[in-house]
Amino acid sequence: MFFAGFAVAAAFINKATNEVLSETDPLAGVDAHAKSSNSAAHETARRRTFAIISHPDAGKTTLTEKLLLYGGAIHLAGSVKGRRAQRHATSDWMTLEQERGISVTSSVMQFEYDGYVVNLLDTPGHGDFSEDTYRTLIAADSAVMLLDNRRGVEERTRQLFAVCKRRRTPIFTFVNKCDRAGEDPLKLIGDVEADLEIDCHAITWPIFREDRFAGVFDRRRQRVHLFAADEHHGSRQATVSEGSLDDALVREALGTEALERLEHDIALLDAAGHPFDHAAVIAGTQTPVFFGSALTNFGVEPFLHEFLDLAPSPTSRNSTTGPIQPDDKDFSGFVFKIQANMDARHRDRIAFMRVVSGRFEAAMDAVHTRTGQTIRLSSPQTFMARERTAVTEAWPGDVIGLFDRGALRIGDTLSTRSDIVFDGIPRFAPEHFARVVLADPMRRKQMDAGLRQLTEEGAAQVFFTSPSAVAGPVPIVGAVGLLQFDVLLHRLEHEYGAPCRLERISGGNPRWVKGPPAEIARVGNQRGCTLLFDAREQPLLLFEDVWSLRYTLERETSLQCFEVAP
Ligand code: G4P
Repeated sequence: MFFAGFAVAAAFINKATNEVLSETDPLAGVDAHAKSSNSAAHETARRRTFAIISHPDAGKTTLTEKLLLYGGAIHLAGSVKGRRAQRHATSDWMTLEQERGISVTSSVMQFEYDGYVVNLLDTPGHGDFSEDTYRTLIAADSAVMLLDNRRGVEERTRQLFAVCKRRRTPIFTFVNKCDRAGEDPLKLIGDVEADLEIDCHAITWPIFREDRFAGVFDRRRQRVHLFAADEHHGSRQATVSEGSLDDALVREALGTEALERLEHDIALLDAAGHPFDHAAVIAGTQTPVFFGSALTNFGVEPFLHEFLDLAPSPTSRNSTTGPIQPDDKDFSGFVFKIQANMDARHRDRIAFMRVVSGRFEAAMDAVHTRTGQTIRLSSPQTFMARERTAVTEAWPGDVIGLFDRGALRIGDTLSTRSDIVFDGIPRFAPEHFARVVLADPMRRKQMDAGLRQLTEEGAAQVFFTSPSAVAGPVPIVGAVGLLQFDVLLHRLEHEYGAPCRLERISGGNPRWVKGPPAEIARVGNQRGCTLLFDAREQPLLLFEDVWSLRYTLERETSLQCFEVAP
């Protein structure tokens, strides 16, 4: 019986009475001086800035909530409200947005755990999946890839993984929903390796007793964590007992069958699996894998503990003057997302800035390096789910929201140095395209102004059928997620006085293309292809289906194709 076993196991180390989970010092890499003082090095070393990537329904909302629960940011899971509603929020999104003021999806959630300051960047998903989802990954130093134990790698996971891989972002994998029967863990790992071409190393391994998810074995620390079912249904931290596999009480608690299976799996992993390689994890070529259940909280804490220990502290970012390290004493940061207020009465926008180096102080002056102007960074905010909190200082890895009256753009650098310009934020190929048709032809100027502004802001991408945008044919807008279209129409009408409708166009699989213009034009005229030009007059080809895309890629060797704008 599970409970009988647990009662015995609880005798060795009960987490409820013993807070210390490991001997590892979270700040082992920091020198003694930095540890003892409130120095920049100390603040940087203890920060972890990451995002969760997953396919809808894998459990991102649930896991986020449980991380907040363990981080003490919420006391009872179930308190991040309004999230579930977003799943169905395509048509009534505007109303929702107005009710919420600034979208909770734009938030960064900060909490402390075990001496770390954790910045969890919330990546918009479901209906509000957009370029912002991709851009958020640029601001993260690592990513947690959340998988459903029955479904493994799914389409959206693959897309987001590709962005991380391109940037060599370290990726940690959490296999969720282990409380219910799923794919065999060994097969799941094999599938991830084959599908995503990344090495896996299981750090925690699920323990099943009488076919029920009873615990995890932490291979790094060689510790068994056994969970007890309770009446809280995951709303509170799980009750856990912990011990070594050599411990007679642990072995007894596991029972012969579960013990044999665990020892067999561990022996197999040790012999045939990839050995743990921290350098490979940091380089993004190996992913540490964890098993658990966000619903019941089983395995969430061992994951959080190991993840914080292994994930990188804030990393450098490339700029025109070379890489800017977090310990550079001059303050610098870049804007990766701009959230317009959908309420027409409040024109303010919030620009989300990731701090790269130095110390940020409220009301400090910084150079907006694109324009050369000095601006005061007043009223900065951090976001905890729905609540905004005033910030007085921030360190590398932190994300703050700055009120903006329209001066800032995505990718902009703010710094006390005037000579830094961070590498731009890539433009990701949209998945949906539509013609913008004006309701009133006399409002063309307003529409053009609106589209220009919204493009600069990164709210949409605009394309034309001829290279010269001023020639004025019907513009085509591209979006990564369909909700971006709703937002675009709403803003064109309410902010720019240009009511429009959209006519969806067929064709997708977009690729920016480089090569001789005559060749590009020839391919663009072929059946199944559409040639467009972006706001910078760079050509982009749309393909009717993946077959015409593949066919063109194979045949047209004089053309180079890119999924991210070159
Ligand atoms: P998402 O943000 O990634 O889309 O996923 P979300 O957390 O909303 O979870 C999607 C569904 O999966 C929810 O069920 C949720 O309860 C369930 N889920 C999440 N984590 C686990 C887990 O560890 N184990 C199991 N068994 N289920 C999990 P739902 O039925 O859609 O909603 P609800 O009625 O449970 O609220």
